[in-house]
Amino acid sequence: MKRILTYGTFDLLHYGHIRLLKRAKELGDYLIVALSTDEFNKLKNKKAYHNYETRKKMLEAIRYVDLVIPEENWNQKINDVKEYHVDIVVMGSDWEGNEKFEILKPYCEVVYLKRTEGISTTKIKKELGLQNPINGVDQIPEVK
Ligand code: CTP
Repeated sequence: MKRILTYGTFDLLHYGHIRLLKRAKELGDYLIVALSTDEFNKLKNKKAYHNYETRKKMLEAIRYVDLVIPEENWNQKINDVKEYHVDIVVMGSDWEGNEKFEILKPYCEVVYLKRTEGISTTKIKKELGLQNPINGVDQIPEVK
C-alpha cells in the first residue's frame, strides 16, 4: 500500500487541482490531502473564499482523495510523513526545489508535478472580481 501526501488550500476547486490530485493518486494507492486551515492561511496572508470545512467537504467528494487532514503550520510535514506512513509527498511544480519540501527527502520521496497552465484560484478571483463571503455564509447546507 503506497501512501501519497499533498498540501494546499484548494479554494474554488478548478481543473488544475483535479489534474494534480488525479496524477498524485496514480503514484500510489491512498491519497492524503493536508488542507491549509483558515488560521494558517491568515499566517500566510492568504484568504480563501470558502472556509476550511467547506473546502474539506469538497475535497472529500473527489474520488482520488482518501483522507483530508488539517495543515496548521509550516513545521508539521516531517511529523505528517511519519504519522501517516507516507511514501511520496507530491506538490505542483511551483514548489520545485523549495526547502519546505526538500527537507522531507530523508523521510520519503518528494515528487513535483507540472502545474496545469492557464488556471489558478488567484486568476479566477481576479477575473470574476470575487469578494469573500461575510460571516461564513458559504457554509454548505447538510444534505437531508
Ligand atoms: N496546482 C496545479 N495547477 C494549477 C493550480 C494549482 O497543479 N493550475 C497545484 C499546486 O501546485 C498545488 C495544488 O494544486 O500543488 C494546490 O494549489 P493551490 O495553491 O491551493 O491552488 P492555486 O490555484 O495555485 O491557488 P492560488 O492561486 O491561491 O495560489
